[in-house]
Amino acid sequence: MSGNIAKIYNMRLADDGSAVVILDQSRLPGETVYLTLSGREELFEAIRSLRVRGAPAIGIFAAYAIYILSAQTKKTDYDGFYAEFLDNKAYLDAARPTAVNLRAMLDRMDAVVHRHAGRPVPEILEALKNEALAIHREDIDMCRAIAEHGLTLVKDGDCILTHCNAGPLATSEYGTGLGTFFLARERGITLRAYCDETRPLLQGARLTTYELTRAGIDCTLICDNMAAAVMKEGKIDAVFVGCDRVAGNGDTANKIGTLGVAILAKHYDIPFYVFCPSSTIDFSCKTGDDIVIEQRDPAEIKEKYFTAPMALPEVNCYNPAFDVTDNSLITAIVTERGICRPPYTESLAAMFKKD
Ligand code: MRU
Repeated sequence: MSGNIAKIYNMRLADDGSAVVILDQSRLPGETVYLTLSGREELFEAIRSLRVRGAPAIGIFAAYAIYILSAQTKKTDYDGFYAEFLDNKAYLDAARPTAVNLRAMLDRMDAVVHRHAGRPVPEILEALKNEALAIHREDIDMCRAIAEHGLTLVKDGDCILTHCNAGPLATSEYGTGLGTFFLARERGITLRAYCDETRPLLQGARLTTYELTRAGIDCTLICDNMAAAVMKEGKIDAVFVGCDRVAGNGDTANKIGTLGVAILAKHYDIPFYVFCPSSTIDFSCKTGDDIVIEQRDPAEIKEKYFTAPMALPEVNCYNPAFDVTDNSLITAIVTERGICRPPYTESLAAMFKKD
């Protein structure tokens, strides 16, 4: 594959296991900066400031982060160690509320400690490290499988609209929403993309077009408010998006603006596909109403990425980072196990629910 973008390393555990090394996504595409993080506050800040972002990537990062913080302990008894673990878990979990992967992967690490109740701390640390590495490996496999299923939904020459970034940077290797593009390229199938810039943090402009361009995939950047026009002009065959939390009924939280794109797709009779690793499904949320939406700093709307403020300081802003797309607007949810179709309460449960 040209550009070898699927091999981009957005994060890895440092060789000595004492830190996590990330590609700082907040500086892309202008600067390629790797950060080596091991302090509690800097690990939290990396999630909060979107240096590491995208639901699966946040989950993997959190697993590495809690292992690294646990390894810094001075406690030698299990109870003291576990109390400290829970404190670090609550701290990291508070960094961002919407992407379920953050909590889910911290819970997975918690379960490891539980399974080792009463065991010596070095043994628990070894198990935590192995679990974090397994979470990372599993995500690589999930992305690849999702991309395979995605390929069944497209044909040579199709043009797909994307929103936000669901590529290698947001996940591992292939990505979810973008994985199909990279796999298609490997197989000699041509897919083209129109990419929403994705205001206010420009993940589409800064990251999606970066990944696609580096891989030699034909992509065209548009402002978010141009999506209707390109659909009306007949340029779009399908919409591909990722997700931050999928409720049991298929309602899907994803980057702000996704809902509007889904409504437009319905209007123009264009299939709207959500790409979703099982780690992003949250059966504890029955519907999208149960999903907490992150509110972010108004400066992201008024000032960030502008050379001067674009609104008076006293202007009120509303800056929800995500919206929820109703299941009725979603043509299919593409997972690593297969493609779920409506009604999602039944199809998701049949594919994933354990009880
Ligand atoms: O705020 P972000 O950049 O973390 O939001 C990311 C998204 O909304 C992605 O579309 C989603 O996490 C899917 S990533 C595979």
